[in-house]
Amino acid sequence: MNKPVVLVAEELSEAGLAMLRADFEVRHTDGADRAQLLPALAEVDALIVRSATRVDAEAIASAPKLRVVARAGVGLDNVDVEAATKAGVMVVNAPTSNITSAAEHTIALILAVARNVPQGHAALKGGEWKRSKYTGVELDGKVVGILGLGRIGQLVAQRLQPFGVQLIAYDPYLPPARAAQIGVRLVSLDEVLRESDFITVHLPKSKETIGLIGERELHQVKPSVRIINVARGGIVDEGALYAALKEGRVAGAALDVFATEPCTDSPLFELDNVVVTPHLGASTHEAQEKAGTQVARSVKLALSGEFVPDA
Ligand code: MLT
Repeated sequence: MNKPVVLVAEELSEAGLAMLRADFEVRHTDGADRAQLLPALAEVDALIVRSATRVDAEAIASAPKLRVVARAGVGLDNVDVEAATKAGVMVVNAPTSNITSAAEHTIALILAVARNVPQGHAALKGGEWKRSKYTGVELDGKVVGILGLGRIGQLVAQRLQPFGVQLIAYDPYLPPARAAQIGVRLVSLDEVLRESDFITVHLPKSKETIGLIGERELHQVKPSVRIINVARGGIVDEGALYAALKEGRVAGAALDVFATEPCTDSPLFELDNVVVTPHLGASTHEAQEKAGTQVARSVKLALSGEFVPDA
């Protein structure tokens, strides 16, 4: 009997691949290349992606045998869950695989933008010893506003506590008692904007959150604020952020994610007070190992018709 076919459309850990190869025929394609992806879907029972593959209605319609789409990571914004559900295709992810890595990368970027680490590094490697130009700010005593106090937002809050910051957060879905347990005061979005010295974004990308931090919001912040986004591009409007940085209404920004990815050219890259990384939040050996094995387990369960628990 032919084995079910699993199409791996992006990089997956060796451990995850080994689990899949034990039971399935594993094929590979470049999910970011539609001309490769669509024909490759014709015979597959399962599709595994990260964030670069658009699993939209067209992709789902190209896969008549598809039973499960697995996202080796957290965000499902690149998967049309409604179209999948209509087609009877299960969608699973690895919701805890990379939360520690994303939280740690957030801390790295907060410190990098507070202390001008990449700028000082680049200047020194270019032969320039510039101490006063790259004078930074301390975290101690500052207000950090967290947008979205879900799994990653909570880990960020816990990791920031020892820095002596005051933590506030906007999260309309979290009970204030849970926030209080981890030392965070829940406030409105406007209060986060007005009171924070650092604003860090940990929201999923959705109709409600695209452009959440735009022109109007960036007119309410302190000019000393630094904005960090390791969640999804587009939640902070890039054009509005550029204008605010250029006009001195925002002191700095650290961005790991962009409205369109890959992003290798942006007016934001020209600004010296902007620190950027190429969507590295989940890029650690540990997170990729967990994402790979979690989705491999879920695909096995789904293809054998068993219940797939929330990992
Ligand atoms: C995620 O949603 O899991 C992250 O953005 C990581 C990724 O896409 O690889």
